Amino acid sequence: MILGICGSPRKQATEHVLERALSMLEDDGLETEFFTVRGKNISPCRHCDYCLRNKECVLKDDMFPLYELLRRAAGIIIATPVYNGGVSAQIKAIMDRCRALGAEDYDSLRGKVGMGIAVGGDRCGGQEPALMQIHTFYILNGVIPVSGGSFGANLGACFWSRDTLEVLKRTHMDSKPSKRPWACLKGSWTLKDPEILFYSEFI
Ligand SMILES: Cc1cc2nc3c(=O)[nH]c(=O)nc-3n(C[C@H](O)[C@H](O)[C@H](O)COP(=O)(O)O)c2cc1C
Repeated sequence: MILGICGSPRKQATEHVLERALSMLEDDGLETEFFTVRGKNISPCRHCDYCLRNKECVLKDDMFPLYELLRRAAGIIIATPVYNGGVSAQIKAIMDRCRALGAEDYDSLRGKVGMGIAVGGDRCGGQEPALMQIHTFYILNGVIPVSGGSFGANLGACFWSRDTLEVLKRTHMDSKPSKRPWACLKGSWTLKDPEILFYSEFI
């Protein structure tokens, strides 16, 4: 199962792009799950170390269903709006709260495959630093980060909200895959074959 996590508190560009990515994976026969922070209560980590002693987080909030999804996922897509040149506070809270997953089982995320999507209000508003933050989280937790490679989306899928909402939906939805400006995910998300290629016109 591929888990898509949307880090926007709104149903706007980030959610649109992530849903599109998940639907492309489903077209390839993969099972997906969608989780959004919108309307959820996910508190920041308190660093109380309760999780280290008790193997679970002391904060009983909407992170709990997400813990279960994260345990089950073979692949993770973190999609974030760019806030101040980085990930949203909601995504950062999720990353920090994963400390409890590591306390429960040090290898809980190890070997899964992860990618990032960043959507900014400006074309060059910090999407790549946000993607690097996502990749850093993956590396720290043993998740295998994947990106687009050169001549593609490079570090991952970068979008400008205006591209997504005003242009992409109308003009690119039906274009052939290699011309679609959003992340085009190919290959199967299994541990044996984690290769995912992104194509983007944003270069
Ligand atoms: C607190 C805050 C900080 C933001 N900082 C940036 C930024 O540094 N760079 C940028 O390109 N856009 C920034 N934006 C704009 C959002 O990234 C942009 O509107 C994005 O599309 C929001 O995603 P959404 O439409 O899915 O909610 C910021 C928005 C907010 C609310």
